Amino acid sequence: MTFPFLRRRLPRRTLLLAALALPLAACGRSAQTWQLDNITGVMPRLKFHLTNDLGQPVTAQNYKGQIVLLYFGYTHCPDVCPTTMQLMADVVQQLGAQAKDVRILFVSVDPKRDSLPILKAYTQAFSPNAVGLTGTMAQIDALTRRYRVAFSYGKPDAQGNYVVDHSAGVYIFGRDGRIRLLASDSNPPSAWVHDLKQLIADEF
Ligand code: NI
Repeated sequence: MTFPFLRRRLPRRTLLLAALALPLAACGRSAQTWQLDNITGVMPRLKFHLTNDLGQPVTAQNYKGQIVLLYFGYTHCPDVCPTTMQLMADVVQQLGAQAKDVRILFVSVDPKRDSLPILKAYTQAFSPNAVGLTGTMAQIDALTRRYRVAFSYGKPDAQGNYVVDHSAGVYIFGRDGRIRLLASDSNPPSAWVHDLKQLIADEF
């Protein structure tokens, strides 16, 4: 499709600049722009030993070749976790067929209450691409320390209920397990979709 009326109106200099910019845009990786926070190389690559919501031991190797959205939370969370999980579920759905390359890993920072069946029901309620992960406190601590994720337990009420304060960032890893992006529910879905499509298109 051409727009002759547009072309007529553009000053000659603009057309020349546009023509010059084309070869640069075709230069691949260096021309990529990101709408989420680019933290490539700022944090270590994905590494963990945990248990999935089927009770199977898993490591980062199990997700090699996939784009991983790593999030830390707990199923009793009243606000940030459901909001962020719903956002990620919507984003993954918008990816259509490309969603097969994306996994949402929900790591529980409340393993005492988040049993395997609860974790599985919770993550599946949001997205078929979501997996609940849990582990021993030592395993969870090792992973949260690795990505400087903070969490702390509130005082239990009379019924034994308590809140867990936790960092709300989502760490996004490329197919090779390298850290690439940091996101949160303050980023619009369009930014997530744009950047994830770019990561999916990257060669393994
Ligand atoms: Ni939460």
